[in-house]
Amino acid sequence: MQQEWLAKIQASESLPALDELRVHLLGKNGLITQQLKTLGSLSPDERKAKGAEINVIKDQISQEIEQKKSFLEDQALELRLSSEKIDITLPARPENEGKIHPLSKVIQDITKYFGRIGFQIFDGPHVESQEHNFDALNIPAHHPARQSHDTFYVSGSDNILRTQTSPVQIRTLRGHKPPIRFLAPGRVFRSDALDATHTPMFHQLEGVVIEEGINFSHLKGTLIDFCRWFFDDASMNLRFRPSFFPFTEPSAEVDISWKNGKWLEVLGCGMIHPTVLQNCGIDPSQFQGFAFGMGIERLAMLKYGMNDIRPFYEGDTRWLDHYGFRSAS
Ligand code: DAH
Repeated sequence: MQQEWLAKIQASESLPALDELRVHLLGKNGLITQQLKTLGSLSPDERKAKGAEINVIKDQISQEIEQKKSFLEDQALELRLSSEKIDITLPARPENEGKIHPLSKVIQDITKYFGRIGFQIFDGPHVESQEHNFDALNIPAHHPARQSHDTFYVSGSDNILRTQTSPVQIRTLRGHKPPIRFLAPGRVFRSDALDATHTPMFHQLEGVVIEEGINFSHLKGTLIDFCRWFFDDASMNLRFRPSFFPFTEPSAEVDISWKNGKWLEVLGCGMIHPTVLQNCGIDPSQFQGFAFGMGIERLAMLKYGMNDIRPFYEGDTRWLDHYGFRSAS
């Protein structure tokens, strides 16, 4: 029987099968344990001889089981090592990371900047009435400013695609009582010929402050600080050049002094025209305000050194990978 058991141990093919065998032989009710229990009924001499004999067999079987066990364990480990092996020489899978578009980045940065000094954000529709886009902004029909805007008309209605973000001034001021400070970033549309600096859709950002006692020095201080922050140049020179917009009086265009000593126009601004305030139900003898408007693409191109506006909308991931940003910060 001993030879038979040793053969069975040798033949067992798995750790659970081997353990079953161990219990069968050496367990509490195992065959060998049972044999040992019979010793009590024998004479002392017989017991000594038989006891020694059984213990030799027991040791041999235990040893055999231990050996077989470590063999099976090694085998299982080998199997795992070979099946879970990875080839670290294989090239890594490409992982495409999205980037933040420069237009989004500029809008995020500017809204964050003005948000810290109390500006809210307002929005308006792209399809806009002529009343909001022109009349209420003091640009009457047949006014030359209307013609200069190359407006897209919506067929079958009097609506247009807004040519500027300024109509958001009207919508916001009609719905909210001053004092108020807000920004309105968004898309605008003009039927310009497409070239390196013109596209039929682009982005503007409008800013408005209406409070009692606001004057031109508030406008200047705000915009000088903003431009120096935006272009990261604390000593940047700015020039407020007298200009004309129907909805502001006085009006100015702001130029910044650029690297080559040239002046570059970056935005339009002015004190909000009393007629515009009245058109929004605000008493101009009580509240005054200033407004400014800037082209987002233009600011982005100046700051980040692009010379063509068209790739902004082409969705070419190589361009975006180069000019895009990793995270909003
Ligand atoms: N709406 C003007 C444009 O599209 C830009 C502008 C100029 C906006 C002066 C303003 C402003 O709010 O005060 O050319």
